[in-house]
Amino acid sequence: MGVFFFYFIYIIAIHFDIVFSLVGFHQCRYGYKDVSDLEGVVAGYANASIPLEVMWTDIDYMDAYKDFTLDPVNFPLDRMKNFTNNLHQNGQKYVLILDPGISINDSYGTYTRGKEADIFIKRDGIPYQGNVWPGNVYFPDFVNPQSEPYWENEIKLFLDQLPVDGLWLDMNEVSNFQTSNPTPNSTLDDPPYKINDAGGHRPILSRTIPGSALHFGNVTEYNVHNLFGMLQAKATNKALTNLTGKRPFVLSRSTFVSSGKYTAHWTGDNGAKWSDLAYSIPGILNFGLFGVPMVGADICGFSGDTNEELCRRWIQLGAFYPFSRDHSDKNSIRQELYVWESVAASAKKVLGLRYRLLPLFYTSMYQAHKNGTPIARPVFFSFPEDTNTYSIYSQFLIGKGVMVSPVLQQGANSVEAYFPAGNWFDLFNYTSVSVDSGKNVTLDAPPDHINVHVHEGNILALQGEALTTQAARNTTFELLVVTGSSNESTGELFLDDGEEVEMGGEGGKWSFVRFRSARAQNGSLVLSSKVENGEFALSQGWIIDKITVLGLDKVNATQSSVSLPIGKEFELELKPNQTLTKPKTYL
Ligand code: GLC
Repeated sequence: MGVFFFYFIYIIAIHFDIVFSLVGFHQCRYGYKDVSDLEGVVAGYANASIPLEVMWTDIDYMDAYKDFTLDPVNFPLDRMKNFTNNLHQNGQKYVLILDPGISINDSYGTYTRGKEADIFIKRDGIPYQGNVWPGNVYFPDFVNPQSEPYWENEIKLFLDQLPVDGLWLDMNEVSNFQTSNPTPNSTLDDPPYKINDAGGHRPILSRTIPGSALHFGNVTEYNVHNLFGMLQAKATNKALTNLTGKRPFVLSRSTFVSSGKYTAHWTGDNGAKWSDLAYSIPGILNFGLFGVPMVGADICGFSGDTNEELCRRWIQLGAFYPFSRDHSDKNSIRQELYVWESVAASAKKVLGLRYRLLPLFYTSMYQAHKNGTPIARPVFFSFPEDTNTYSIYSQFLIGKGVMVSPVLQQGANSVEAYFPAGNWFDLFNYTSVSVDSGKNVTLDAPPDHINVHVHEGNILALQGEALTTQAARNTTFELLVVTGSSNESTGELFLDDGEEVEMGGEGGKWSFVRFRSARAQNGSLVLSSKVENGEFALSQGWIIDKITVLGLDKVNATQSSVSLPIGKEFELELKPNQTLTKPKTYL
């Protein structure tokens, strides 16, 4: 079973690329009422000194919920331009939502050009009419090769006016507010099986496009239903790449095998409930295994009112989702991270650690690109020989050795966590947990704390805390070398400009470093690096100015000041008495 999974994800996720800013923290809400509201939220984050990378706007920005339009009263173009510019000047980004349904309206260019290009999904010889946010709509047929240029042109016309940084594709299962009548005796519209989802025991055409509808080449909706979201993400990814020449930023609700190559994903409308906080972990781990590594759940919960304790515990966990976004429903109370003091304090602490760990998140993304390994991994991924790890769904790993053990219960101030054998160190305070063989350990988890531990055998490249990924990128690096009974520790670091179309592609505008440490006979630690394409890192001036060793000869933290250019290979010796020999560096 395990072997099958490894090969499966290797094949489907290869060449997955995600823009660097996606690893920052994101704020969204359905129901922001105008540009001033958005400005207030961005200011709220700045005033509270909580990192904010991307501001999002839901369907509220549109004119009558029509894609590629702006509400002229509440989100007028000049204000939107100004807002976008200000974000860009602060190193922040702006992302807007799009829905697949195109409003049927002869005075609406996106509709008339779609009709002209004849790219809508049909039924009974005419475009199939559904009903979504804007009212009656037709749906572009992304099976039709002509849909790609149509879609790209619509995006171009919009970006020419407002240069947003990414697109969020929602409702693309396809979700339809109406259920059409089945064609009599059609086994496509009414096959002898039903859907048993939240809506109950329903016929398969319920609240979507009926199976008898036709795509390009007379392909039935029945046969390609599950591909819509993936094909729309692919077309959107291609359009943005063509138009910007950069790696695109796409988030999609519907996915299929291979979607991870084109888009990030969120797990959809969860509830502001403790049970949904807990379910978010298996949801995210599953998507990693499905080949969609950039995945997250709506932090603090989407529908229903959240509360201070739940939101605090949720950001503590959500800060370690690969995709970390706070999003809420129009009918629920506001839940930006600065709303409650204790949530704000926790957010600063945990997002502070996330931003220090950005090199790990990003290198894990590169590993996803190369090997198909998820960013957030089940604990068994690194400990397959420890069968106790197989059933764990309340803890997970980032990369190969950082383990997150969140509080998932209301009122809890401790957490029962499983630790596979070896030395583990808390990443906030370096206290250690040491187990000879795997066992459950009860950890303190006071209101402001989440347990995040790193395992012996790992070397992490950390950067400084910052409010944006751009600012984090300009800080110096620290190497955290975690040693233990095992002789060797290793770590990897991938660096590029974050938006070169392909990660690690030809042209070499990237660097890749392998760190290794091993015990020498005299008890000291020899730490070295091997570098591929060092020129890029050298051109950016990135240096390691601190080395911290955990677990060396019972000394918990050994800190040394150094100045090692990341782009140059080096070898140095760390003695147990904490003196650092002069490093040898190599080009
Ligand atoms: C859907 C999405 C949700 C969004 C809402 C309004 O429910 O899943 O994220 O806020 O539509 O666009």
